[in-house]
Amino acid sequence: MNSWHGLIDSDYRRWLPVTDRTPTVSLHEGNTPLLRSAHLSGLTACDVRLKIEGANPTGSFKDRGMTVALSRAAEDGAELVICASTGNTSASAAAYAARAGLSAAVLVPRGGVALGKLGQAIRYGARIVEVDGTFDACLRIARELAAHHPVALVNSVGNELRLAGQRTVAYEIVDALGEAPDIHCLPVGNGGNVTATWQGYRTYHSAGRARRLPRMWGFQAAGAAPLVHGEPVSRPETLASAIRVGNPATWEGAITAREESGGLVAAVTDEQILAAYRLLGRRDGVFVEPASAAGVAGLLDHHERGLVAPGQSIVITLTGNGLKDQDAALRDSEPPTRTGAAASEVARTLSLTP
Ligand code: F0G
Repeated sequence: MNSWHGLIDSDYRRWLPVTDRTPTVSLHEGNTPLLRSAHLSGLTACDVRLKIEGANPTGSFKDRGMTVALSRAAEDGAELVICASTGNTSASAAAYAARAGLSAAVLVPRGGVALGKLGQAIRYGARIVEVDGTFDACLRIARELAAHHPVALVNSVGNELRLAGQRTVAYEIVDALGEAPDIHCLPVGNGGNVTATWQGYRTYHSAGRARRLPRMWGFQAAGAAPLVHGEPVSRPETLASAIRVGNPATWEGAITAREESGGLVAAVTDEQILAAYRLLGRRDGVFVEPASAAGVAGLLDHHERGLVAPGQSIVITLTGNGLKDQDAALRDSEPPTRTGAAASEVARTLSLTP
């Protein structure tokens, strides 16, 4: 029996900024799988679990925050919601706006968004504006428009609603494991998710639902690592387009998560991200988009440098679904082998013995 009806109508409702007057706008997000990775556990001699956020309705963790943001936007009588995005936020905002009967406009960096995500925003009926500039420029414009026009901004910047929704990932993890992990690894772009995940652990800890707190290990792509360098990057470069962010809006929150948890924010190269991306598919049967592999890339990098003590409980957020970015999937791959429509030919191609 399926008794899951999304985050707002779950036990997590008490932690969310909604009231009896708030209409629930939901696609039954949340309650995502927490899978043990035999391969990564064996490699690190730790207990490594993968939180599969690509299993959310629009294929990324953004749905956790968007159900709250759009429910409240509907309650407040908004007509148009707007966001800047590297792709996933726009897909999620567009879907939840459709669900709420609202219009959505999304600002994306031209040429900087995986096609699957654009396809999603189109099919969910959003107005798509391709801006000649970076994600950071799109966000600046979206904030300006929200300040001067009757539109609701649904980026997590200054949007406590989005962060409150995204905290639920930590609640689910603690409820599944019975305790917080020792280490939580995840990719970092605009900084909202590491901030929210850390706040979620703190909330549960304060409420006595977890006895300990994890160390937060955030990973940025080396060519887009402002938090690592301590200053904005004007031309962020990485093939992990979802985290191609040069000036994270939730900068302070990400640094607070690192400091308070005794964790770190480090850089991983595109080569390391791609290696982790391939490993997840091949070894765990989990297809993620490249940015989503940054947490695994970071764990492997720290393991190789002898910085991961054995015996720890480690959770890694896999933020988005691989189906969104087929260009990445097919890049550097062997083309399929063609044969005629005869079993004997296929058998020969596969070197099957009689
Ligand atoms: N992973 C994926 C797949 C993402 O789409 C994002 C952010 C992140 C990680 C990083 O999360 O920004 O909270 O630090 N995507 C945003 C977007 C920027 O517009 O979809 P963050």
